[in-house]
Amino acid sequence: MTDTQESRLRCALVSTDPGFRESLRRMLEADAREIELAMEIAEPFAEMSDELIAALRRCDPDLVFLDFDDDPATAVSFCRFLSEGNAQRYIIGTGPALAAETLLETMRAGVAEYLPKPVADEAIGGALDRAARRLGWAPANRAPGDLYAVFSPKGGAGTTTVATNLAIILYRLTGKKTLLVDLDLELGEVAVLLGIKPRFSLLDLAENFARIDAGLLASYITPHESGIHVLAAPFHPEPAGRLPSEDVRAILAYLKRHYDYVVADTPKSFSLESVAAFEEASRVLLVTTVGVPALRNLQRCKPLLEQAFGRDRDRLRLVVNRYHTDDVISLDDVRRTVGFDVYWTLSNDYEAVSHSINAATPVVQNAKSRYTRDLQAMGVDLLGLHQKGRRLSGSRLIGDLLGRFRNKSTEAPA
Ligand SMILES: Nc1ncnc2c1ncn2[C@@H]1O[C@H](COP(=O)(O)OP(=O)(O)O)[C@@H](O)[C@H]1O
Ligand SMILES: [Mg+2]
Repeated sequence: MTDTQESRLRCALVSTDPGFRESLRRMLEADAREIELAMEIAEPFAEMSDELIAALRRCDPDLVFLDFDDDPATAVSFCRFLSEGNAQRYIIGTGPALAAETLLETMRAGVAEYLPKPVADEAIGGALDRAARRLGWAPANRAPGDLYAVFSPKGGAGTTTVATNLAIILYRLTGKKTLLVDLDLELGEVAVLLGIKPRFSLLDLAENFARIDAGLLASYITPHESGIHVLAAPFHPEPAGRLPSEDVRAILAYLKRHYDYVVADTPKSFSLESVAAFEEASRVLLVTTVGVPALRNLQRCKPLLEQAFGRDRDRLRLVVNRYHTDDVISLDDVRRTVGFDVYWTLSNDYEAVSHSINAATPVVQNAKSRYTRDLQAMGVDLLGLHQKGRRLSGSRLIGDLLGRFRNKSTEAPA
């Protein structure tokens, strides 16, 4: 995968208007494009120090939002300064409605477009799209991100809890753009678990997929305070199979181009949505508990799993949830019944998990819980961070390693 940091567009914001700065910040935060707010200047032109101007020069933004509110005449000169520094720079002006004459002068000074206030979010989104296009930044240019699909043929195994918390873990471990998508159109619970009330859902995206662009995508996404983005299921249940499998596949492929990590929670059946996710996924985490009914179900699903994964078995990873070392059924029994190895175990942690559900906060917010420790160790392994040993501090790395060996099945392969 490419490092998206390198391909990010850098944006500077020059505005004395706190309201405008706030809405631009919010837009960029929720935005699916790789635009980084590299510098924010709130001072009026007359009060900008030489150091500040030098810092702006060094920052060398690809894109500048320049507010004319403070002083339109000086803003025009400032524009000239910005476009002289870098002729490719895309400058978006905003402020009071300007007379035709002034507007023309503004354009001559290098402003690519001017958005009179009040500026609607859609207008900012449109401008960002045009800027990205003009600057030759296309999400299609970068390698797609990784999709982790979380699945269980049986309800209640802990799929939604794993998907939701894994997304947060991946984001925490890497700081990269992470999307959690709820493919359970019938009764998706991701939003409930996160305590958010999304305005739009995957279905809205699907209905408008023909005209999707980064701006439109951003409008369907709900940011969560943990730093991840969420594409929720519709609030009112939709019948399973409502979306054709090819559509779901195309949507997931599109989302992978916009995010480094996509985690998909899937419905508890081999539905069209689940199968589409299997096809697009780098890894499918098959979640099970160790009870007899759960294992029996898994056994019955073996032919379907074989059909879906065939020889590509390595993509499928069995995760035993609510695991307890005293369980009557051992991991070896699981392997024998199901026919493949246990990839990871997640502790049974009723207190932490149920508390998190009642508080509508993800359980990984509770750093001390066994569940968090196990899931974090799994995230580290999925990302291959052990081998690279990067970013993790020594003590954390040791903690993760311990967690890993405590949890990873050490049994011989089948
Ligand atoms: N490791 C765990 N320890 C204790 N309870 C868990 C654990 N994982 C999930 N649960 C509980 O099991 C129930 C089902 O979890 P959920 O994630 O909704 O499953 P699914 O999406 O597979 O139906 C929830 O009440 C959840 O709190
Ligand atoms: Mg669920």
